[in-house]
Amino acid sequence: MIELKDISVAFVAKEQTVRAVRNASLNIAPGEIFGIVGTSGAGKSTLLRSINLLERPGSGRVLLDGRDITDFDGAQLRSERQNIGMIFQHFNLMHTCTVYENVAFPLQIAGQSRQQISERVPELLGLVGLADKAKAYPAQLSGGQKQRVGIARAIANRPQVLLCDEPTSALDLESSAAILELLKEINERLGITIVLISHEMNVIKRICTRVAVMDQGEVIELGDVYDIFATPKAAFTRQLVDHTFNLELPRHLTEDLSGTLLKILFLGDSAEHPVLSEATLRFGVSVNILHGKIEYINNRPIGLLIALLTDRSDSQPSTSRLGEAVDFIRHNTAQVEVLHA
Ligand SMILES: Nc1ncnc2c1ncn2[C@@H]1O[C@H](COP(=O)(O)OP(=O)(O)OP(=O)(O)O)[C@@H](O)[C@H]1O
Ligand SMILES: [Mg+2]
Repeated sequence: MIELKDISVAFVAKEQTVRAVRNASLNIAPGEIFGIVGTSGAGKSTLLRSINLLERPGSGRVLLDGRDITDFDGAQLRSERQNIGMIFQHFNLMHTCTVYENVAFPLQIAGQSRQQISERVPELLGLVGLADKAKAYPAQLSGGQKQRVGIARAIANRPQVLLCDEPTSALDLESSAAILELLKEINERLGITIVLISHEMNVIKRICTRVAVMDQGEVIELGDVYDIFATPKAAFTRQLVDHTFNLELPRHLTEDLSGTLLKILFLGDSAEHPVLSEATLRFGVSVNILHGKIEYINNRPIGLLIALLTDRSDSQPSTSRLGEAVDFIRHNTAQVEVLHA
């Protein structure tokens, strides 16, 4: 339903041109939660804002439901934008207005009657869990509550698409998780397509089904979140994923290692197969697990282990046995990386 075709956006400052987005293409299906991840300055916000033409691409096309809207302006553009809600990292609420007035605002703009508004606002506040906060001012709310107001306001006119620019980056872990849950609920209950930007894979993996990875203005990788986590292709993506798994070993563990240090990836069924204990029996090696983690992404497991293989003291020292053990593990798991041999 959302198609970005070969989008480029450049900003011309005094001395230099910043190519914020370079030839980016994406297709986002109706009803999905699509993530865009990348470090600061990668061009995520610029690409997101090109969907509702808050940023006009210098080249490329933007299609919604097959309609090319790239050259829309005036009334035509306003009408398209009604169909696309947006929320922001810093909420962008009107501070001198109550929660009720903030949420009522887009309804007034859309020309709804007082009567319609007085019915719709409480419904929206109920949906985001703020039924009792209608009369409060933004300053009286927590960050999480402010973002709930932002969400109620963004979906007031029943848009088909909700753009979320780092919606949880200003929140603590708990509120962040609650807001992501709320977004998921809105997606499921109302069928709204969500496009969510984050610089953290941790946020993406919680609710997104697919993700685009951006680096220096380009979409460098795109796919199912599970696949991207399981087998990231670009070095930059691997870095992001590794960061999420947080499998850094304390230095004293990696100094003076004797043996073969492996990083082993288990996917799906291989997670249940006792590969390591079998390797110890078959090849006379010892396995010492130094670090490990299992993540569930879209309910499918991804396991990562860092294990040190050594020749067992009671067996004949022979490197070939270690080599065979590594081969055996490689055959029976998704991926093995030798960190130290
Ligand atoms: N209005 C603007 N004028 C000039 N340069 C801009 C403008 N907006 C963005 N840029 C530049 O374009 C590049 C991409 O910016 P963008 O805000 O899209 O990145 P981002 O991935 O959203 O980063 P962040 O995670 O920090 O929000 C950056 O180098 C930024 O400085
Ligand atoms: Mg941004």
